[in-house]
Amino acid sequence: MTRTLLHVVGARPNFMKVAPVLAAGSAAGVRQLLVHTGQHYDHAMSDSFFTDLGLPRPDEHLGVGSGSHAEQTARIMMAMEPVLDKHRPDWLVVYGDVNSTIAAALVAAKKGIRIAHVEAGLRSRDRAMPEEINRILTDQLADLLLTPSRDADGNLLAEGIPAERIGFVGNVMVDTLLRLRGAARARGAVESLGLADRPFVFVTLHRPSNVDDRATLTELAGALTDLAGQLTVVFAVHPRTRQRLADWGLTAALAGVRLLDPLGYLETINLAERAAFVLTDSGGLQEETTVLGVPCLTARPNTERPVTVTEGTNRLVASTRAAIGQATTRVLADRAAGAFSGRQPEGWDGRAGERIIARIAAMA
Ligand code: UD1
Repeated sequence: MTRTLLHVVGARPNFMKVAPVLAAGSAAGVRQLLVHTGQHYDHAMSDSFFTDLGLPRPDEHLGVGSGSHAEQTARIMMAMEPVLDKHRPDWLVVYGDVNSTIAAALVAAKKGIRIAHVEAGLRSRDRAMPEEINRILTDQLADLLLTPSRDADGNLLAEGIPAERIGFVGNVMVDTLLRLRGAARARGAVESLGLADRPFVFVTLHRPSNVDDRATLTELAGALTDLAGQLTVVFAVHPRTRQRLADWGLTAALAGVRLLDPLGYLETINLAERAAFVLTDSGGLQEETTVLGVPCLTARPNTERPVTVTEGTNRLVASTRAAIGQATTRVLADRAAGAFSGRQPEGWDGRAGERIIARIAAMA
């Protein structure tokens, strides 16, 4: 293929998705460019992922940083325009559902540059979630919708997307997980954190619906305090969550919980693999725990990744102290009874990156 692909990433969950596609593209001799919008910029949220995943230095770094949704999206759009004019790629490849995804797609669509959306078709049916807006709009703009699971194909067909634009390729994040699982063990975060000899819960929480509402975050802090009475609780705290805990005077209430800064990819996978269970509101960890066969409680009323519940190890739980307490009791009992072997959903096999490149190459 002599065409040029321009990949756009910006936020933490994009990085593990672009890595296998870049690798497959290189192996196939495709001309590729990597653009980092700078939506995430802290070392722990960005550079450490580039290092651990073996990603090349971006060809362009837009340095947009944080802001309101409107500010951030607008800044990315303005910075993307000259980049697309300069490189004139045949395809823009965007990933997931973050603001960088929709912003880049919107600019490319108006310039007549074809768009491939990796992780297309996921729907929570909850438009209060900013990512749901990003998913719906990016899928409307995309010329090629590359889906991670069969439910996503059904969602797109129901929205009137023509079948010939939809390509089921499986879950590309699993390519990275399977490639780096051994490296994650070798990094040994569990050992260096002194967790090797004890059962622990690994916690991450950062969704606006959980951490930007004072009553909900107070409930969650109560739930973590209760959990810490039963087993070790390790909480990798996203910058926005740390800010909210401080704003509302909740940090002191978490004295029994081990609060860590955001972890790198290899550390995160190592902790997830060895945890008694994971408590999260992340999209990626719902999928990673399914592959690892580790129980996951997702503190959300819905999920855009339903196969992690129907086929994997994921359970939804309300973001209240009482609900998380009850779910913990059940999860620990079911885990002891061996209920969490899990099943690998179709196409979660480590080969999605190759299928993505093959599918783009097959388009005229
Ligand atoms: C974004 C994505 C979300 C994803 C998450 C992973 C959108 C709409 N949301 O949410 O889907 O699950 O990334 O982390 O794109 N901040 C820092 N350092 C950083 C980045 C952010 O301190 O490197 C702080 C800033 O105060 C910023 C806040 O975190 O305002 C939120 O960052 P932002 O990129 O707006 O959204 P996330 O909550 O990270």
